[in-house]
Amino acid sequence: MEILLDTANIEQIKKYMQLYNITGVTTNPTIISREQEKDFWKLTTTIREIVGDKQLHVQVTSDNWEEMLEEAEAIQIRLGKDTYIKIPAVEQGICAMKHIKEDGGRVTATAIYTPQQAMLAASVGADYVAPYYNRMNNLNVDSKKAIGDIVNLFRQHNKHTKILGASFKNTQQIMDVLMVGGEAVTVSGDLLTTMVKNAVIDFAVDGFIKDWKSVYGDKKLYEL
Ligand code: E4P
Repeated sequence: MEILLDTANIEQIKKYMQLYNITGVTTNPTIISREQEKDFWKLTTTIREIVGDKQLHVQVTSDNWEEMLEEAEAIQIRLGKDTYIKIPAVEQGICAMKHIKEDGGRVTATAIYTPQQAMLAASVGADYVAPYYNRMNNLNVDSKKAIGDIVNLFRQHNKHTKILGASFKNTQQIMDVLMVGGEAVTVSGDLLTTMVKNAVIDFAVDGFIKDWKSVYGDKKLYEL
């Protein structure tokens, strides 16, 4: 089970990498555009320095495979050959994926709305496919079922492409992906916090602290 951070925010990346066992960081042009740092290479280089040898996924922005390959090469030179090149699973994108995989690079197929896109990305050797859970829901698609279908498809055909669930607006959507067999999810820090913070959890934890203090005051157990 892999948990990635879907952000380019340096503070968030530092915070959640310290708190949790994070597999890596995913970005896209929208996520990048939200940051104050407008120097793309400065921002992504800083992220690479923070994540070290953990995963970094960076998206291309061209609409034809030749330019996508040029972008991929620039990403690999600046951020490391092991950087996952995120490419939309459209016709030109799949062609670019094929070339990058032939060249020994790493690929994450993104903007996945259907099992057939996932199938084509897997057929050229994509390392991950990223189905967009919430955006699929907004199209009245049963995202949990569609992602379960991708899991079954890959198993039936012995594909090693992993599923990286993306585009989440609530924690149930994240759990749905993992429960149908998706290997990985990329989520915001806020949603990770929501998973372990709510009134009933706080009530339980506060109760333990209150009962401890009723007997031992402010002393910690290592001070007894
Ligand atoms: C990550 O790989 C995706 O680009 C991202 O999760 C999309 O999220 P959104 O639907 O909230 O834009």
